[in-house]
Amino acid sequence: MTKFIIGNWKMYKTDAEMRAFVQEFSQISQGSAPRAETWLGLAVPFTLIDAARASCSEHQLPIHIGAQNMHDATAGAFTGEIAMEMLRDRGAEFVILGHSERRSLFGESDDFINKKVKKALLCEFKTVLCVGESLQEHLAGNTSKILESQLDGCLQGVEAFQPGSLSIAYEPRWAIGTGQKADSEHIQSAHLVCFEWLQKRFPKQSVPLLYGGSVSERNICEICALLNVNGVLVGGASLIAREFFALTAN
Ligand code: PGA
Repeated sequence: MTKFIIGNWKMYKTDAEMRAFVQEFSQISQGSAPRAETWLGLAVPFTLIDAARASCSEHQLPIHIGAQNMHDATAGAFTGEIAMEMLRDRGAEFVILGHSERRSLFGESDDFINKKVKKALLCEFKTVLCVGESLQEHLAGNTSKILESQLDGCLQGVEAFQPGSLSIAYEPRWAIGTGQKADSEHIQSAHLVCFEWLQKRFPKQSVPLLYGGSVSERNICEICALLNVNGVLVGGASLIAREFFALTAN
């Protein structure tokens, strides 16, 4: 199965910084194209979608450019929001939905995320849906319950979708940005919960399962060797060209 390595740049980088990243990535990767079975993506700020796509294509880098959020409406009076059609219009190839920072800092509910997921899948727009428990929920032993309820809520009413258009990223909130990934046993059991839920709900579809939370070049091999882990969603380590390249080299 394809291995997915998707960077999430969050609210980082100006145009000049993006160009420097692409240039450096291109220099480092000269002569060593990422493996054919690896799908590389970068979810950049909205302002960089167009330019990052052009810059990657100029340097012949096989990096798919995506966004970190969207609204479910096509157009309307939604100040500060962005529509899927607008992302696609600028060349975005995928979107991250339901990231824990959207949930915890901006109050996004499973219901709201569900509307966006339905819209994206209906339009065959590649979607990376994030789920994951908080530290409190983890310590209370509620991880499985939380994952199942987030999957129920965010995928409610989703019946069929284009093969390859949906991936799930399991991101324990307490491992994001801490430098300390969840231990392998925990990752494996959380992925099994998601895998079984997906098998039951979409028995005919293969939905890649990604892990996110302090992924680095030091731990990516261990993570990707785990059962039901088909790739990673990476924050901090995707901001530095050398580190992002190192992830693809493993
Ligand atoms: P991190 O972020 O790799 O910096 O922990 C992951 C994410 O927020 O998706």
